[in-house]
Amino acid sequence: MEQTYDRRSVLRAGAATAGVVLGAAALPATATAADEPVFAHGVASGDPLPDAVLLWTRVTPTPDATPGSGVGPTVNVLWEVAADPAFATIVASGSVTTGPGRDHTVKVDATGLNPATTYHYRFRLDGAVSATGTTRTAPGLSAAVTRLRFGVVSCSNVPAGHFAAYRYLAERGDLDAVLHLGDYIYEYAGDFNGEAVRPHDPPHEILTLADYRRRHAQYKSDEHLRRLHATVPFIATWDDHEVANDAWSGGAENHTPGTEGDYATRKAVAHQAYFEWMPVRNEADRIYRRLRFGLLAELSMLDLRSYRSQQVGVGDGAADDPNRTLTGAEQMAWLENGLVTSGAQWKLVGTSVMVAPLQLPPLSPDLLGPLAELLGLPSEGISINPDQWDGYAADRRRLLATLANNGVRDTVFLTGDIHSSWASDVPRDAGLYPLLSKSVATEFVCTSVTSDNIDDIVGAPPRTTSVLLETAVQALNRHIRYCELDSHGASVLEVTPAGAQMDWYYLANKADPASALTWARSFRTRAGTQQVRSVGTPIAP
Ligand SMILES: [Fe+2]
Repeated sequence: MEQTYDRRSVLRAGAATAGVVLGAAALPATATAADEPVFAHGVASGDPLPDAVLLWTRVTPTPDATPGSGVGPTVNVLWEVAADPAFATIVASGSVTTGPGRDHTVKVDATGLNPATTYHYRFRLDGAVSATGTTRTAPGLSAAVTRLRFGVVSCSNVPAGHFAAYRYLAERGDLDAVLHLGDYIYEYAGDFNGEAVRPHDPPHEILTLADYRRRHAQYKSDEHLRRLHATVPFIATWDDHEVANDAWSGGAENHTPGTEGDYATRKAVAHQAYFEWMPVRNEADRIYRRLRFGLLAELSMLDLRSYRSQQVGVGDGAADDPNRTLTGAEQMAWLENGLVTSGAQWKLVGTSVMVAPLQLPPLSPDLLGPLAELLGLPSEGISINPDQWDGYAADRRRLLATLANNGVRDTVFLTGDIHSSWASDVPRDAGLYPLLSKSVATEFVCTSVTSDNIDDIVGAPPRTTSVLLETAVQALNRHIRYCELDSHGASVLEVTPAGAQMDWYYLANKADPASALTWARSFRTRAGTQQVRSVGTPIAP
């Protein structure tokens, strides 16, 4: 989703160790404090498997080896994983070479671990020792898991505020992982229309490999994000701003080929920097992937930017065109097959853009069909935001039909992008819901960590203009059970055999790094129902 008002719609409104490999025993057991100059960007983990987890850090071996500089020595970084925070029992260790070719980032797949186990890890370069990170492996494939808890976040824009929402999740201490659903960084210039809470680095819109690396480095320098990364593994996918606003396979709204060069080049360098700086499992350029959490849940993380057709305009009948795609054919087949054959009860789908229809007016196809034909409007209604699944109706129809035709139950879409909070049933046919069309899935949309939404954009006080819009949206889209357009923060998802519950926590003030977060609302999908319902209390921390 875009950041500024003038676009699209109101609603979206130590270098010396090269070649030297030291055994784990060489690490001093007392060195647990972070050595800031060398490990200035913290530690992170991600994509937990039952026997493995990715470990990440970035080293600055010499003062000139700054992010994006392309200079500095090739070095050997040691890593170790322990069962205890004092590193008395080291269970895995090794070394990895890094250098300017990968911006001195380190990404290690620590294997041979036990399932559903908390581990501690750290890195060392010469005498410098990183901060200690904590991570957790996934349960075994056939484990009868009774509970999973995930932080759910998206849209963290540095100039728009502070990442107190990340601090909140780090302090909870009960999360198995954090799902980041996209817009982990933003590509925009730093002044934020003169209203930046804090500036972007570099100060210009990022275009080159050096730019993207510097921007990732700035985000990894944020104290709250560093703390969260060091506390819990991330499972992340990208949305548009990891490259450029409203990205599609061949371009982006915020990319001008004439002055900003070739889009394919920009996309490639943005992806390279992402893979260097993020603890994600990628096979070449492929980021969509599936993670399993015992018999309880399976998580399919989608890539809805790399393969999609160009967006159509609001009210454009081309949203129906079966030749247009959001997922690309290969990813769609992978997703459908995974959902139909899953051995897990809950099918969680991380989708960077909203699945549930959001359309005005909600005319039945009987009424809208002829009108659509006459006016060239999409048959499923006039979508407000064709950047989300609404703009790719054929792909959505196909996916929802697959769920319905195969009796797939307990599919929950987990979504970001639109800087606001939503809980929805996902009917196969929104125009006929609820009398003639059953809900085939549910969707929880987390709000933004900081990125602007309605009240920020139009300058209206919170809970004024947006309340009118929320009321209208819910009156006209009966499958949408919760819509809150003002607040920023983080969500927590709990999954048990009985249900999946999302809690929304909101920031008091996103410009305040010490801002508190308070619980606002909770919605729950009881197993087998494919419907969301409001519940009165959040899950106990
Ligand atoms: Fe966003």
